[in-house]
Amino acid sequence: MIIKTAKFVGSYPSLKLCPPEDRPEYAFIGRSNVGKSSLINMIVNINNLAHTSSQPGKTQTINYFDINNKWHLVDLPGYGFAKTPKNIRQNWGKMVDEYLVDRMNMQCAFLLIDSCVPPQDVDIDFANWLGENQIPFVIVFTKSDKKKAKQNKGFLSQFKKEFLQYWEVFPTYFISSANKKEGKEPILDFIDNINYQYFEQMKAKK
Ligand code: GTP
Ligand code: MG
Repeated sequence: MIIKTAKFVGSYPSLKLCPPEDRPEYAFIGRSNVGKSSLINMIVNINNLAHTSSQPGKTQTINYFDINNKWHLVDLPGYGFAKTPKNIRQNWGKMVDEYLVDRMNMQCAFLLIDSCVPPQDVDIDFANWLGENQIPFVIVFTKSDKKKAKQNKGFLSQFKKEFLQYWEVFPTYFISSANKKEGKEPILDFIDNINYQYFEQMKAKK
């Protein structure tokens, strides 16, 4: 897929304020600081379209980006950041959970996992929660360029092993680096495929 246009649509503090459900959309989720916003920028090839920070907790609302006037990318706040005050964390959690469960045109969530750290319970718990709620998702292992990721190739297989204690199969997954621009094409091809099916179904309904 070629990205012709990528525009910021808006930031929304709750599901009920989000744009109409009139096109396919894809949400990026994962722990704070895992690289959700950076991955969005890398995919659309615009620096700082989604705001990034080395401090966890940068993204605090549901952020919409319009791609090719055809589909939406959605940047969500991260989970698992202990320093965010508890009441704010609970609000974000509620907002993200509500979004993922009730947003009917959300085709597939991209669950980002940091490839520089051993498997984290909070990530496995979140994946299990997605499964319990029948929310379709794929996995993206981020920051593959970092020394820690390169030195610890075992983190990926450790994560798979941990995951497969709860699941029968490992989902589709991608490996990415925002810095090295790795992972863009496979992720866009994957989205393109689902978009195609979405628009075919829409045509058939007419
Ligand atoms: P929250 O909005 O706080 O949930 O974080 P986020 O998941 O959106 O992370 P963000 O994209 O803001 O990136 C966090 C930090 O990781 C920043 O300092 C980025 O520069 C860095 N980072 C993100 N992706 C990569 C990557 O692929 N490689 C490297 N080396 N650093 C990355
Ligand atoms: Mg962010």
